[in-house]
Amino acid sequence: MMSLVATELRWDWENIDTNDIVFPKSFLFGVAASDFQNSGNENFPYNNWRLWETAKAGREKSGTSCDFWHRYEDDIKLARDLGVNTFRLSIEWSVIEPHEGEFSQDALDHYRDVCQKMIDAGMTPMITFHHFTDPIWFTARGGFEKASNIKYLVRYCEVVFKELNDLVPYWCTINEPGVYAFMGYIMGEWPPEKRGITNMHEVGIVLRNLLEAHIAIFKKIKSLPGGDVAQVGFAHSVTQFEAYHDWNPLEKLVASYINHIFYKAALDFFVTGEFTFSVLPLPVQPVRHRNPTAKQALDFIGINYYSHVLVKIPTGASVTDESKMSSSKQFSAERPGDIRTDMPYTLYAEGLYRAIQEVAACGVPIMITENGCPDARDDRRELWSKRYLYALSKAIKDGYDVRGYYYWSLLDNLEWAERYTMKFGLYEVNFETKERRLRDGANYYASVAQHHIGYESRS
Ligand code: BGC
Repeated sequence: MMSLVATELRWDWENIDTNDIVFPKSFLFGVAASDFQNSGNENFPYNNWRLWETAKAGREKSGTSCDFWHRYEDDIKLARDLGVNTFRLSIEWSVIEPHEGEFSQDALDHYRDVCQKMIDAGMTPMITFHHFTDPIWFTARGGFEKASNIKYLVRYCEVVFKELNDLVPYWCTINEPGVYAFMGYIMGEWPPEKRGITNMHEVGIVLRNLLEAHIAIFKKIKSLPGGDVAQVGFAHSVTQFEAYHDWNPLEKLVASYINHIFYKAALDFFVTGEFTFSVLPLPVQPVRHRNPTAKQALDFIGINYYSHVLVKIPTGASVTDESKMSSSKQFSAERPGDIRTDMPYTLYAEGLYRAIQEVAACGVPIMITENGCPDARDDRRELWSKRYLYALSKAIKDGYDVRGYYYWSLLDNLEWAERYTMKFGLYEVNFETKERRLRDGANYYASVAQHHIGYESRS
């Protein structure tokens, strides 16, 4: 008889003591944020998401979001009040290089001050160079569709590294290359809004170029003074897609395609030096690429982990049925008893453990560069932290080399296509008054961070 039972890893949470957690003394507990999501297009008018915002009538504008650009000093204090000892922030390329080849010293000075304030507050900065957004001039040049454009990103990273490297030990080159390619080139929900399975070859090219950009940035940094001690990695989304029904070959096939695009093709590249982007038997020309230096191009790997996604295909759909297959609604199934978040996924902390196991194949230290609960009602945030921190601690106990954890996010902020509907913040933000308020559900994470790093200088 066909099995209807899930085979994905499931723990018996009723009988688990989530207080049973340990972390190494040197473990980093932090918060993560991206400057664009926290400052919006009014602060960053040269950012390509401005084109996206205006392309369709009725789209909510990002405005100034939480106006982190002007309020960072206070927000860094809010992070310090939680008791964390590290802060991951993406800086905005389009404000540093608003026009091709013209670098803004003011913007660089601004970020220098941001990093200095983090350090003054007892937090080690981790800087992300690229977090989904591009300057408009870079988009006009064809963005990551062209390998010849990689040099522009590398040049910007070199400028930034030279400015900030005495303050910043951890560098994240690119945030979630697989998601950038998937959301912009298959789902069509993000810039440049290309949509459909027929774009798959281009997706492979974009992904390959992003991964090559990471390697080129890594090499550039290593060649610069201070580069030998800098810790350089990238943040990888390791969302596992899995068939809702074990017996359904179509669901399995779709899940395996998406895993390939989202994270597996990239992981394999860093493990083997071979990039093979292939979605056979779809009639799409594979992208093959070899670069043996990929294997040496990571000081750490970042995992961004939220949940897994169960693929449930409507009866009668085929894999080439674009309207049905490229709608995110197909990817929101849940099992009985699952606890939903406000995004189309559930609490699934076992998946963080699995992600760590899988990424360990790269053979480098791991950082959890993002994890957090979208929860406007604030009635699942605490449980989320209990379960995910338990899963993380279990992985460490089982011998996996995880060095740090960053909660996404410090504040409610702009959630890409969902705009301001998703509430990821440890602090709630009133976007009209810009007022911040600590959520009750944040206290558990703060207490774990304080207990485990003994950080006591709360003001
Ligand atoms: C991204 C963030 C995003 C978060 C929550 C991650 O994929 O890096 O920018 O806000 O997920 O959806």
